[in-house]
Amino acid sequence: MTRPAATTLAARVIRWQRRHGRHGLPWQGTRDPYRVWLSEVMLQQTQVATVLDYYPRFLARFPTVLALAAAPLDDVLALWSGLGYYSRARHLHRCAQAVVAERGGAFPACSAALAQLPGVGRSTAAAIAAFCYGERAAILDGNVKRVLTRVLGFDGDLALAAEERRLWAAAEALLPVRDVDVYTQGLMDLGATLCLARTPACERCPLAVDCAAGAAGTPHLFPVKTRRGKRGQRVNAWLWLRQREQLYLVQRPPRGVWAGLWSLPQFDSGQALEEACSGWPGRGEWWPAIAHALTHFDWTLHTLDWQLPPRAKLPAALPQGRWVTPEEALAMGLPAPLRRLLGG
Ligand code: ADE
Repeated sequence: MTRPAATTLAARVIRWQRRHGRHGLPWQGTRDPYRVWLSEVMLQQTQVATVLDYYPRFLARFPTVLALAAAPLDDVLALWSGLGYYSRARHLHRCAQAVVAERGGAFPACSAALAQLPGVGRSTAAAIAAFCYGERAAILDGNVKRVLTRVLGFDGDLALAAEERRLWAAAEALLPVRDVDVYTQGLMDLGATLCLARTPACERCPLAVDCAAGAAGTPHLFPVKTRRGKRGQRVNAWLWLRQREQLYLVQRPPRGVWAGLWSLPQFDSGQALEEACSGWPGRGEWWPAIAHALTHFDWTLHTLDWQLPPRAKLPAALPQGRWVTPEEALAMGLPAPLRRLLGG
C-alpha cells in the first residue's frame, strides 16, 4: 500500500527536525502552558535570538501566571520594552488576569479554548496545544504560510479570507497522527532557517522532493498576497527636556503607537515645538533626526534638546509627566528609539 503524501511530508519534517531543527531553547524543555504561551507570544513578531534575551528575565520576574496577573501593567511594559509590538504585552497582561480570574490560574487544555484568550490567535493557540498537550492542531503563522504555499504550489491570494481558509484546511490535512509537537517545531524551524523569503536554501531542504515551487524554480512567487497597503510617512518632534541630571518623561496615551509607554513630550512638528518653547528659560539645540520604521508607517522624529536652568519652573504648556534620571528611565517601559537615545 502506498502511503498518502501527507504522511510522507510530515514524516520528512519530523525526521529533519530531530536531526537539524532547533533544540535546547529554554521554552522547549517544558509542557507548562504558562511558559510555552509566554514564549509563543514573544516569538510572534520577534526573532529567537532576541527572545532568548528577554524570556529568562521575564520569567525570573514573573515565574507564574499568578505573578504576572498581580503585577502592575507598567512593570510588564518595562520588561517588554525593546521587544516592540506593545499590544502584545498589554494582551499578555490581560490574558494572565483572565486566566487567574476566570479559570483559577489554569490555562485551557485545548486549542479552541486557548484561541479565546486575549492576544492568542488561532496559530498561537495551536502551537501551545501541540507543544503542551500533543493536540493535532495546525499552525499557520507567516513563516509556515511561506513553507506550505511553496510546497503545495498554493497560489490562492491570502488577502482573501476564502483562500486563507483553504490554506488552513490544507495545513490540517498535512498533520501527522503522532509527534505533532516535533512536526510543529519542524515547520517553524524550516520557515526560520531554510525556507527564507528571499534566499531559500532549497538544496538543504528535506521537502525539496515534495516542493511544487522548488521544482518549478519559483519559490519567490509564494505566498501570494495582494493588497499591500502603501506605507505611511509621519513626522513629529520630540522634546528632550533636561533639568540638572533629570529628563522629563510623559506616559503615552492608552491607545495608538507605544500605548502606555513612557516617552518624550511629542509635538505635531518641529515648528509647533519651536513655537511652544520660544519663551522658555534656557536654550535648545536640535539633534539629527531619528528614522524609525513601524508596521504601518515610517516615522521621522526631530528631537530638540532643551536645558532648563536649575531653578526654572516646568513650562506650563507641557502635559503632566515625571522627572527621572537616565537610570530610572531605563527601568521604565520605553519605546526602542528613546532607549537608544539613553544609551540603553
Ligand atoms: N516562532 C514561533 N514559535 C516558535 C518556536 N516555538 N520556536 C521557534 N520559533 C518560533
